[in-house]
Amino acid sequence: MYFSPSIAAAGFLAVVMATASPLSFAAETRQTTCAPIHLFVARGTTESPGDGSIGSLAQLVINAHSGATQEAINYPASSYPTYIDDVSTGITAVTNQFTKYTSSCPNSTLVLIGYSQGAQIILDALCGSGSATKGGTGSPTITASQGKNIAAVVGYGDPGHVAGESWNEGTATTNGIYARPKGACNAWANVIHSYCNTGDPFCASGNNIMVHLQYPQTYNTQASQWIGQQLSSHAA
Ligand SMILES: *[C@@H]1O[C@H](CO)[C@@H](O)[C@H](O)[C@H]1NC(C)=O
Repeated sequence: MYFSPSIAAAGFLAVVMATASPLSFAAETRQTTCAPIHLFVARGTTESPGDGSIGSLAQLVINAHSGATQEAINYPASSYPTYIDDVSTGITAVTNQFTKYTSSCPNSTLVLIGYSQGAQIILDALCGSGSATKGGTGSPTITASQGKNIAAVVGYGDPGHVAGESWNEGTATTNGIYARPKGACNAWANVIHSYCNTGDPFCASGNNIMVHLQYPQTYNTQASQWIGQQLSSHAA
């Protein structure tokens, strides 16, 4: 099954995004300077290259933590008919960018945040995707030891969402359309918050696209505060 509901959603999303204010971000400093805190930000399907709507959460974290930097995951984020291929490309991009940064900066504390397809590729890289038919390898591509400095991972509207996991936030009680196996993310249970609300067509297999568009507005304050707590408790 492909990501067909987003054909209709794509036009709507484009309108919503076009009315959002442009956000400015700290320059990427990934190879020259090691930041105390570094964020990896993966936008959602059909959003223009850059941080996308979840960049608003990145900005809250950067504003609250002097010296924090960010980089956008560079992947296509396209929809039908290339969604599955783009998830694969995205998992590789997350893995490569993460590996490159942590090789140069082994002491930086890390935060990964993603919206929609962006949440799926981040969590697939950490947890495995379950199946190649869902765009992944089935196995994690970032190891526990590579990820030892990860303080927080936030997903909004992840199509790989699995109902009933301890790291879930929000009201959803149904699986996403590309649900991972139960427990796939167990190794990262203490650092993940995955936000999914009832009715979301992608993370909860529902039929209300509006739910999928409201995560930053509904959860940015809560998620940024949780990231702040995670960063405090993870500080070296
Ligand atoms: C990371 O920390 C170790 C141990 O304190 C130190 O030896 C090393 O130089 C640090 N590396 C960087 C890139 O800051």
